[in-house]
Amino acid sequence: MPHFAEAHIDLGAISGNVAALRARAPHAQAMGVVKADGYGHGMLPAARAMLDGGATWLGTALVEEALELRRAGITVPVVAWILPPSAPLSEAIAVGIDLGVSSLPVLDAVIAAAGAAGRTARVHLKADTGLGRGGIMPAEWPAATAAAARAEAAEQIEVIGVFSHFACSDEPGHPSIGAQIAAFHEALAQAEKAGLRPEVRHIANSAAALTLPESHFDLVRLGIASYGLSPIPGLPDTGLRPAMTLRSEIALVKRVPAGAGVSYGHRYTTDRPTSLALVPLGYADGVPRAATNKGPVLAAGRRRTIAGTVCMDQFMLDIGDDNARPGDHAVLFGPGDDGEATAQDWADVLDTIPYEIVTRIGARVPRGYTRPDGAGARG
Ligand SMILES: Cc1ncc(COP(=O)(O)O)c(C=O)c1O
Repeated sequence: MPHFAEAHIDLGAISGNVAALRARAPHAQAMGVVKADGYGHGMLPAARAMLDGGATWLGTALVEEALELRRAGITVPVVAWILPPSAPLSEAIAVGIDLGVSSLPVLDAVIAAAGAAGRTARVHLKADTGLGRGGIMPAEWPAATAAAARAEAAEQIEVIGVFSHFACSDEPGHPSIGAQIAAFHEALAQAEKAGLRPEVRHIANSAAALTLPESHFDLVRLGIASYGLSPIPGLPDTGLRPAMTLRSEIALVKRVPAGAGVSYGHRYTTDRPTSLALVPLGYADGVPRAATNKGPVLAAGRRRTIAGTVCMDQFMLDIGDDNARPGDHAVLFGPGDDGEATAQDWADVLDTIPYEIVTRIGARVPRGYTRPDGAGARG
């Protein structure tokens, strides 16, 4: 390994996952969601791999992320859906970025920015159908759709989409799911009454794409599942392949006696003479400090549990009498092919979701890429 550690990304897995997901939503287009640096996988390589897999749209949270896609020469429709007052709206409109509009004040800001840019803004109106986060509430929806229709008639905006987002699609059978789909149908009917004819209606995320065909409408927004991680732990037959492998090299190995305290706070004590291996990854790199005495790591031929406190830049493994040398690999998670844990395993022991595990891998960890033709590359 050319670096102390690497988050290695199998881009063929991302393309393959998107293709597999598209087959499950055959009547919808697919949007690859690449916010947060492509869920930690690298935004641009992930975006290109998703397009290779058949995605025809991309989605980001921030306008700044969408602008980066445009600067890289990506021309497909890109929707950015979190628009705080500082968002560079005119710049976005000037390069044809679609804007997810979640409130009447944001609609006003987009209309003003379209005037400043001298160009019609591409808008997706977002209905809050029950998530209780961003989105226009039902009470304001008639006013919002009427205002959007007026702005459309004035060629200030074009309503390309109407969309919403689920609260509990990762809990199949949750009563809010059916209620949100019904509320979305109502929002669409109201939009039509106001004279809007959106090209794409969309509400499905990965979980809904996998489990709720009635939610697919015209477009499914695929985040976590494109990266090969299931939004619903234990869902059978997803055919998804985790794209990221996080590995490091053992930096040193040393013998210690029984009763030796290990790492800050001595939260681990050896129960026999043993060998300790130091792995140079820490919480600054996204290995949660909560993984102290919990995180699973494949090293010296077996899966181990982190011994003692995870530090900023390093943690220890107790490898007993097994042999390891500096430079040998330690694998934190990957697709699981060689006995290593998965990001889902890490999420399970840390009582979180795999989204948090992969998105928090730090900037210090180099990303490496395998492309479908087998070529390696750094990104
Ligand atoms: C509006 C919106 N759509 C789609 C997604 C993708 O969700 P997932 O990663 O669960 O597929 C997200 C991510 O949180 C989102 O915020």
